[in-house]
Amino acid sequence: MISRRLRMGVNIDHVATIRNARGGPHPDPVRAARMAAAAGADGITAHLREDRRHISDNDIQRLMDEIDLPLNLEMAGTEEMLSIALRHKPHAACIVPERREERTTENGLDVAGANYDLAGYVARLADSAIRVSLFIDPNLEQVEAAHRTGAPVIELHVGTYCESAAGSERDAELERIINAVQAATDLGLEVHAGHGLSFGTVGPIAAIPDIMELNIGHFLIGEAIFGGLESSITRMRALMDNSRAAATGARSA
Ligand code: PXP
Repeated sequence: MISRRLRMGVNIDHVATIRNARGGPHPDPVRAARMAAAAGADGITAHLREDRRHISDNDIQRLMDEIDLPLNLEMAGTEEMLSIALRHKPHAACIVPERREERTTENGLDVAGANYDLAGYVARLADSAIRVSLFIDPNLEQVEAAHRTGAPVIELHVGTYCESAAGSERDAELERIINAVQAATDLGLEVHAGHGLSFGTVGPIAAIPDIMELNIGHFLIGEAIFGGLESSITRMRALMDNSRAAATGARSA
């Protein structure tokens, strides 16, 4: 049996977080993107937040100009972000919920309860050949609502799984993710996953054969402090690939 290769998107936001702590140019997230490409990443992910707390508009411009890997632009569903996405035309855009006061993207998008024309955003991005994903919690109501927007891809927020205590709590979260992946796949959606993944939590998620892509950032950048960025990405890549191969009894295609 040949399994589909699991793609790895490296999120470089937190290189920019460190840079912005001092306001100068170092460390440069575009240099990190170049290293990620050399270490086996399939794509680069960057979240341009409304408050520009890490990635800047200029970073997005430079990622588009200087990096050959596809860019996945994480963005809130706002007119400002839509016009930026339409100007740059990244390979992909992942629509995420955003609250200024949150430390990170704490939950998935409430697609089922969205009080704005999310389907309209999906359509306008898709018209520019941008592959749109919606970042949602792993529950069936959200999967079905995401499908109704016309988005071809969902990214499942696996943060609760990653933060849960190992044992029955984590097993129950994994079950929720597996069920959401199954429901989405049955509807014809492509499934990605991300948020909070680490060396310790990536294996069971990578083992779900219908997940096509993982987007990983904070842990990789944190781990780079101790062993270097290339080594943290290479090790994550190996854990992902080995877990996928073990689960499918095959080498990845
Ligand atoms: N995917 C999405 C949609 C995200 O918002 C984030 C966090 O910015 C990630 C993946 C990466 O999460 P982490 O930095 O925790 O690995």
